[in-house]
Amino acid sequence: MVNGESEPVGGAVIETERLVLRDLTIEDLDELAALYADPRVRQYFPDGTLTRGQTLKELEWIINVYYVTYGYGLWAVILKESGELVGRCGLLPWEIDGRTEVEVAYLLGTRWWGRGLATEAAIGIVEFAFGTLPVDRLIAMVDPLNEASRNVATKVGMRLLWMGYVDDEGVSDVYAIERPA
Ligand SMILES: CC(C)(COP(=O)(O)OP(=O)(O)OC[C@H]1O[C@@H](n2cnc3c(N)ncnc32)[C@H](O)[C@@H]1OP(=O)(O)O)[C@@H](O)C(=O)NCCC(=O)NCCS
Repeated sequence: MVNGESEPVGGAVIETERLVLRDLTIEDLDELAALYADPRVRQYFPDGTLTRGQTLKELEWIINVYYVTYGYGLWAVILKESGELVGRCGLLPWEIDGRTEVEVAYLLGTRWWGRGLATEAAIGIVEFAFGTLPVDRLIAMVDPLNEASRNVATKVGMRLLWMGYVDDEGVSDVYAIERPA
């Protein structure tokens, strides 16, 4: 439980004012595949849009590898007022310069952009991560052209750590927030 004082609704990992973040399941495949098939949603991902089969592989990886190995990963983002799956956000581990970094990742369907929902989810994720994981800092890897993503990172209190970091995923600006004292 991150925000508020009541118990989270069933299966929730994180609850915020308008959102519940819960573990993804195989039943979420159709909705996740619809998000990943949208070129606007996938504009800044090096692999672009994904097919249903590719989405299934990612979903299986999230469930069978991330949740099992790390206890975290990407979660379904559910809008409380309608129960709709509006995106997937969460935490991803990366090895960067011999150090494990944990990234705050966010992706929403276009219908739900511009309502502060990604910022709300990301704030909940940051609080959850610092409250439950032994991490000194969290990062966001932002395509230099992805203004919306950069804005979410800075709105949760992240600051530019490295410019022009290059890996297999392409070029990113890396933003970071340190664990509060
Ligand atoms: C990045 C993304 C999650 C932002 O979601 P969102 O819910 O619209 O973000 P928010 O409403 O919380 O907006 C955060 C800030 O960014 C600004 N913003 C949102 N979309 C923007 C855009 N397209 N261009 C510039 N600024 C934008 C908002 O105005 C807000 O700042 P403000 O409060 O000062 O006005 C969404 O655009 C998305 O899913 N994109 C596709 C996936 C992606 O690229 N994810 C990041 C890479 S992993």
